[in-house]
Amino acid sequence: MLETAAQAPLPYGRQSVSEEDIQAVVAALRSDWLTCGPAVEEFEIRFAAAVGARYAVAMNSATSALHVAMLLARVGRGDRVITTPNTFLASANCAALTGATPDFADIDPESHNLSLPALEMAWGPDVKAVVAVDYAGQPCDMPSLYHLAHPRGAVVVEDAAHAVGGGFEYGGRLWSLGGHPWADMTVFSFHPVKTMTTGEGGMLVTENAAWAERARRLRAHGVERKIFVGLGAENDPALCERGPWYHEMQELGHNFRITDIQCALGLSQLTRLAAFVERRRTIVARYNDAFAGIQWIKRPAVSPPASAKHTAWHLYTMQIDFGALGKTRTQVMDELRRGGVNTQVLYIPVHLQPWYRITYGYGHGKCPVAEAFYKHALSLPLYPAMSDADVDRVIGAVYKLAERCQ
Ligand SMILES: Cc1ncc(COP(=O)(O)O)c(C=O)c1O
Repeated sequence: MLETAAQAPLPYGRQSVSEEDIQAVVAALRSDWLTCGPAVEEFEIRFAAAVGARYAVAMNSATSALHVAMLLARVGRGDRVITTPNTFLASANCAALTGATPDFADIDPESHNLSLPALEMAWGPDVKAVVAVDYAGQPCDMPSLYHLAHPRGAVVVEDAAHAVGGGFEYGGRLWSLGGHPWADMTVFSFHPVKTMTTGEGGMLVTENAAWAERARRLRAHGVERKIFVGLGAENDPALCERGPWYHEMQELGHNFRITDIQCALGLSQLTRLAAFVERRRTIVARYNDAFAGIQWIKRPAVSPPASAKHTAWHLYTMQIDFGALGKTRTQVMDELRRGGVNTQVLYIPVHLQPWYRITYGYGHGKCPVAEAFYKHALSLPLYPAMSDADVDRVIGAVYKLAERCQ
């Protein structure tokens, strides 16, 4: 361990960029298009095919795609949107940004995804949408969640930012995330720590043609180029003239556009998605085997319909009994860092964030399972470019904590 500790510590996540990726980006830079050009559409078509979706709309982040999902669901002031507290801020912020109230239902103690009984308890007539997050890459029980939420009139958005390339078995067949019928929309992230990257970027997929078309409009200022309403001057031929320049802003939109440069990278990365997922799975299996006998570690569990076989892991989050170790989390993280291993804490429950406490009056005790999970959670490095020696370094550093404990 001593010689490896002198190396830069392993990050908890990082991109895998190949020479082919670099060449793809260089080719985009040499092309006529830097912003929304042909690579965007090609990426959307190929990504939709890869996950089994009908329509895919690429944006500059999953945060933007979640925001657009809320607009497509017509979420706004007076509505409530329920999500999990065990997520990145964007899963809840997207509702707040529309004027709706984000609310939180507690998580299941095994899957660490939204608990369906908690979701049912939190329900009310004002719930317009549910944002179900596939935490760490493990798919939520989407069929059960959809059967709960859909008949009550809510739109179901699956935040699969962590889970690109994953799936689950249900009803005797394998369903991919983005390609199953138990979400109205699914959102993926291509941030560098995610399974594949475009630098920054996100994708919204849906089976609904009208939503896909509106999503394209909303990502570009609400501008329409095909079906026109007019400028309110039907008797003025000059004001009615429509050439290739003509466009109308028919609703308020955003600049959520992604670039050809990013999509060129995405297209190249997509060809290695299956290999990225497989390598992550192998590393998770090695961690699980290595930590099986350690009493003060609770390894990530998989709950049906998710399975280890079909999960595309983004995070390896274990729960540590810091009391049994006689150390604080910060001390454990420092020790691991000295052993050449950076770790991360994912997530601080969103309802406890100051803005949420002040704005909505949420507080400690609202979601006790998520709060307990946070107190014990620690995510180890997990990314496809990790070598076997890197994985050994992580396992060795964790064992060292164990030695000191016993
Ligand atoms: C669960 C979840 N949803 C949404 C996002 C937002 O993704 P992006 O960084 O692409 O905006 C993230 C990013 O970390 C995430 O973890």
